[in-house]
Amino acid sequence: MQGLWISALFLALVGFAAAQQDVLGDTARRPNVVFILTDDQDVHLNSLDYMPFVQKHLLEQGTYFNKHYCTTAVCCPSRVTLWTGKAAHNTNITDVNPPYGGYPKFVSQGFNENYLPVWLQAAGYNTYYTGKLFNVHTVDNYNSPYAGGFTGADFLLDPFTYNYLNSTFQRTGETPRSYEGEYVTDVLAQKAYRLLDDAVAAENPFFLTIAPSAPHANIQMSGSILDPDPVFVFDAPVSAKRHEHLFEDVIVPRGRNFNPDHPSGANWVRKLEQQNQTNVDWNDHFYRQRLRALQAVDELVDGLFERLEQLGLLDSTYIVYSSDNGFHVGQHRLQPGKSCGYEEDINIPLIVRGPGVAANSSTDIVTSHTDLAPTFFSLLGIPLRDDFDGTAFPVTENGLLAAPDRKHEHINVEYWGFAGGEGIYHRELHENNTYKAIRIVGSGYNLYYSIWCNNEHELYDMEVDQDQLQNLLLPATLPAPANSEARVAGLPIAKVIARLDSLLFVLKSCKGQTCRKPWQALHPEGNVETLKDALAAEFDHFYEVEQRRVQYNFCSNGYLVDAEGPMWETDGLVYRGGLTWDQWV
Ligand SMILES: *[C@@H]1O[C@H](CO)[C@@H](O)[C@H](O)[C@H]1NC(C)=O
Ligand SMILES: *[C@@H]1O[C@H](CO)[C@@H](O)[C@H](O)[C@H]1NC(C)=O
Ligand SMILES: *[C@@H]1O[C@H](CO)[C@@H](O)[C@H](O)[C@H]1NC(C)=O
Ligand SMILES: *[C@@H]1O[C@H](CO)[C@@H](O)[C@H](O)[C@H]1NC(C)=O
Ligand SMILES: *[C@@H]1O[C@H](CO)[C@@H](O)[C@H](O)[C@H]1NC(C)=O
Repeated sequence: MQGLWISALFLALVGFAAAQQDVLGDTARRPNVVFILTDDQDVHLNSLDYMPFVQKHLLEQGTYFNKHYCTTAVCCPSRVTLWTGKAAHNTNITDVNPPYGGYPKFVSQGFNENYLPVWLQAAGYNTYYTGKLFNVHTVDNYNSPYAGGFTGADFLLDPFTYNYLNSTFQRTGETPRSYEGEYVTDVLAQKAYRLLDDAVAAENPFFLTIAPSAPHANIQMSGSILDPDPVFVFDAPVSAKRHEHLFEDVIVPRGRNFNPDHPSGANWVRKLEQQNQTNVDWNDHFYRQRLRALQAVDELVDGLFERLEQLGLLDSTYIVYSSDNGFHVGQHRLQPGKSCGYEEDINIPLIVRGPGVAANSSTDIVTSHTDLAPTFFSLLGIPLRDDFDGTAFPVTENGLLAAPDRKHEHINVEYWGFAGGEGIYHRELHENNTYKAIRIVGSGYNLYYSIWCNNEHELYDMEVDQDQLQNLLLPATLPAPANSEARVAGLPIAKVIARLDSLLFVLKSCKGQTCRKPWQALHPEGNVETLKDALAAEFDHFYEVEQRRVQYNFCSNGYLVDAEGPMWETDGLVYRGGLTWDQWV
């Protein structure tokens, strides 16, 4: 019975992979990919509404993934997850800077010889890249070693990565070159078009990544983080001269969670004071500068499509548009920035256009950056790696139609270290911004559940509270009282969080198959695949009494096993230490 069910799921999965690949047939040249990856671009502040060429070429001609998430809401960890198909707790690249992150850590963890561009080359692809690769990829360390896996590249380097008018790029085979006084995205556009020409001139199919630094804050750095006492001066993003006058009346969308009258969130977020009008006005300016900076990206996209059309490549190329993480400006009283688990920071743009992809369409399937490398593999017909933590998701019209009914519904969000505002007010770092969370969207529920390193808990019922203003687990230092009146998904919240907590317990240290099928780790019989299945009364005792709870021992700035509390043993499927639920409550 279970065997049959697993085979059916397997067939359905093979079905969508085949449906995806059918499009080009056996004889055609393998498809190309052009991947545009912006820096810190939001969904919830409506930035895409201000990009007419992205709308024309991508949204109207492609499929938009409403529920696409990053799993670690900050550049370097998110990018490493994207390029490896592994959760941050498995890359152990958990920060932007050493010792827990940055390019040197990426290299020392062995990924420079073992990540998507390298795998694509091994599969016969030519690989090209321009723009920001990782943080702390600098004018001093770019050649020790060179970033692996690229046929041709032109990287933006620190300490100039976020300097919109004084960038430095390093082209394959050359030394770094300064573009002082030139607008970075315009320089980048020319580099992207030249790499496209190189790609077309070669025989092989290609994968070209274009990674603008916009709309990241402008940073004037006196040196890289590796230098003694570097000074980083943050300011609003800078636009090209021709876009300076745009959007004069535009302000940050005033959602319910914008600079709210009452504190919200947990831990340090809950202690923030409401912003005064001067601060709000400046943040509106910061927001307009983001939109203005995105205009040159929009033009780059238009130029790209003009060339793809002229070159006759539109029928054989997937064009994918995304960002490394989201962004907030004023929500929950936060200064401009990212690093939080709230929806503004983790729900990010993903648009795909290409052969077989439905035009002017959108989908609600739940997907994450961990899934992108496997998805590229699947699109390009490369067999999936066993060590992927993510799963390939369908992008073509037929692929989406053939996808199993019981779709993947959760995102494993994780973060270690600091959060910092990127505007001019309150630039102090917030320590202990270490948390784990689950974002889950399924039939009858739409939830966010988090545990911070001080063991505060959050639960938001986003079916009725999409702005995440009502933490149902207040006081946040306690797990939900078992007799709470509150209900989510039609059930007492204690029942629901017992399941969510167990799912997170597995996910927080999962590897490969356990990450891809965490419910199966809890139910090896294969009879539970979703939160809804797990909510069956027959599992009440299993979840509410038998299971260990997620619990930190202390706050750490990196992924230190000692800080992480009881752990799921991924190999033997047994627990190590920790309190059970009834001991907790
Ligand atoms: C731009 O960067 C160069 C180093 O590449 C530096 O010498 C120069 O002073 C910078 N210019 C400005 C205006 O900051
Ligand atoms: C408004 O808030 C900012 C940031 O806290 C502070 O620096 C500034 O002095 C305040 N201005 C007024 C007029 O209160
Ligand atoms: C896209 O779909 C919307 C309705 O969902 C329609 O109004 C619009 O005309 C469509 N655009 C194109 C280019 O097909
Ligand atoms: C951060 O966490 C550490 C270790 O758990 C604790 O000692 C410290 O007091 C915390 N700091 C703040 C500001 O909460
Ligand atoms: C992650 O990296 C840090 C810094 O190098 C190290 O201290 C820690 O033990 C590593 N964590 C794991 C789980 O390997």
